[in-house]
Amino acid sequence: MNDHSTDEQSPRKLTIAIDGPAGAGKSTIASRLARKLGYVNLESGAMYRALALKAIERDVSFDDETALVKLAQNLRIQLEPTIGGNRTLMDGRDVSSRIRERDVSEGASRVSVHPHVREWMVAHQREMGAGGGVVMEGRDIGTKVFPDADLKIFLDADPVVREQRRMTQQKIKGDVAANVAAELRERDRRDRTRAASPLAAAADAVLIDSSSLSEDEVLTRIEQLVQQRRNR
Ligand code: DC
Repeated sequence: MNDHSTDEQSPRKLTIAIDGPAGAGKSTIASRLARKLGYVNLESGAMYRALALKAIERDVSFDDETALVKLAQNLRIQLEPTIGGNRTLMDGRDVSSRIRERDVSEGASRVSVHPHVREWMVAHQREMGAGGGVVMEGRDIGTKVFPDADLKIFLDADPVVREQRRMTQQKIKGDVAANVAAELRERDRRDRTRAASPLAAAADAVLIDSSSLSEDEVLTRIEQLVQQRRNR
């Protein structure tokens, strides 16, 4: 699919897909991997999150597929890699923090069930990743967005571990923690059971269970796989 032309000095630029459920460590790993390789890191979830935020701001229902597609068509989403991770701009405005809040997380999972919303997202994700040299993470990158990706990783972890990581990440404690855990489980269920491109490992994905691995260990494993793919 991509033009992988290369010369002796520069290794060919791969397309790397990292899929998996929330809290498995995708964002951190994708961002660190991209920085190490000098690749672009595209966090596809941020696009669904930006659309959900726009729907909240415009009072559009998460269930109104037609209205959501219209919103998407007029939405300008920019994903800018920074040292600390991705910055997300929506219509030129920095919404990086806002899109991590609970109402947007819930909304992103709900807007992403609609097939026509997904078509728009997938088309844009393909455009953004065209040419390779990209680490794209999400739920359907290996199955739908880049089915010919050079390397596909399915990063998973035990649900309890994923919940704990989310709490630590977002510094959540006490009563709120139980609600956040319940929301995460519901998002997971929705992402895995929706009809359009549900979260699933591609048949040729390498499964990595990060439950008892450190970030460094996961990264090392993926780097070994990158090296193998480059040598193919
Ligand atoms: O990766 P994330 O938690 O930021 O994703 C937010 C939601 O967006 C997630 O619940 C499902 C949806 N999503 C998707 O359907 N497909 C993707 N490629 C990425 C995210």
